[in-house]
Amino acid sequence: MHDLSLQDFIQRIPKAELHLHVEGTLEPERLFQLASQHGVQLPFDDLSALRAAYDFRDLQSFLDLYYAGAAVLQTEADFHDLTWAYLKRAADDGVRHTEIFFDPQTHTQRGIALTCVLDGIGSALNRASELGLSCGLILCFLRHLSEREALATLEAALPYKSQLLGVGLDSSEQGHPPSKFEQVFSLARREGLRVVAHAGEEGPPEYIWQALDLLGAERIDHGVRAIEDDALMRRLANDQIPLTMCPLSNLRLRVVDRLSDHPLRRMLDAGIKVTINSDDPAYFGGYIAENYRAISDALGLDRDAIGRIARNSLDAAFIDDTHKAELLAEFDASESQGRGHAPERAANGCEADRSAPQQES
Ligand code: ADE
Ligand code: ZN
Repeated sequence: MHDLSLQDFIQRIPKAELHLHVEGTLEPERLFQLASQHGVQLPFDDLSALRAAYDFRDLQSFLDLYYAGAAVLQTEADFHDLTWAYLKRAADDGVRHTEIFFDPQTHTQRGIALTCVLDGIGSALNRASELGLSCGLILCFLRHLSEREALATLEAALPYKSQLLGVGLDSSEQGHPPSKFEQVFSLARREGLRVVAHAGEEGPPEYIWQALDLLGAERIDHGVRAIEDDALMRRLANDQIPLTMCPLSNLRLRVVDRLSDHPLRRMLDAGIKVTINSDDPAYFGGYIAENYRAISDALGLDRDAIGRIARNSLDAAFIDDTHKAELLAEFDASESQGRGHAPERAANGCEADRSAPQQES
């Protein structure tokens, strides 16, 4: 992208990140440093060998490396430092609110206590306001495991429910339909947790229908393959179900062959509430602003389209009405800057004090 003003606009426009796996922010340098600190053997001699392995064929080839990498996360400090590094990076990209996924089963299965994970991530999230960010935490169930294991995970997490915003569903999609997890999502909803689910990344449109109708998903993570089903496209548009799309992830996992093939623009034009996110930025070559830039470049998105997508992200966030209204007002002020008619409240410095946003719960 050569339009510097568009790049600057992307960077500074207030936005929410709604699809980000904290384990997917583990940069190669940190991975190596923690492996050496904790004596974890890696099948890579050096950073360049590790980076060379980031050449994925599909979702599963990525997940194999991603779960192997997560094994270096062992202490509360590791989870804190990882999360804090992400929050700083997101704030630099103009993120004002973020809802972070974590995969407890990836850690508890190898003997790390749930409280170690929750306390480490939580202690970073509790300081997010120092960066001008608000945030929430979403517990994801690994769909390649059984529903019984997901239920045990939810039951273990319920004593810490106040630290959670919601639940999600991730990992290997093909062959693991949302219908497999009806009971655990029903329990989560009864407990007052918000519901999202990965669907239609590699899996068929049917999985998106199931996520909506059987799990009660309020947002769909990815949803790329909805483009194959006209009735589903109408449902998503009519019900204004947000899609948390991740263009660089889709490119690197070969969900699309080229970014110019990505259906995001067609979905936006169909009236669907599309958002842009980074998924696993350490593995896919870019944080949120880079995702905005790459897809805008590939699809020729202009300032209006980019603005709509960023506004969608604030609108799709699981935050209360007051907080949403504040962020949207900030967005409107920021968006009109540079158009030569910034609203008076921004110009005269009378904006409400948003210096200490709260963690959503
Ligand atoms: N876990 C981390 N990233 C994921 C993705 N893109 N799809 C499914 N599960 C994931
Ligand atoms: Zn994801």
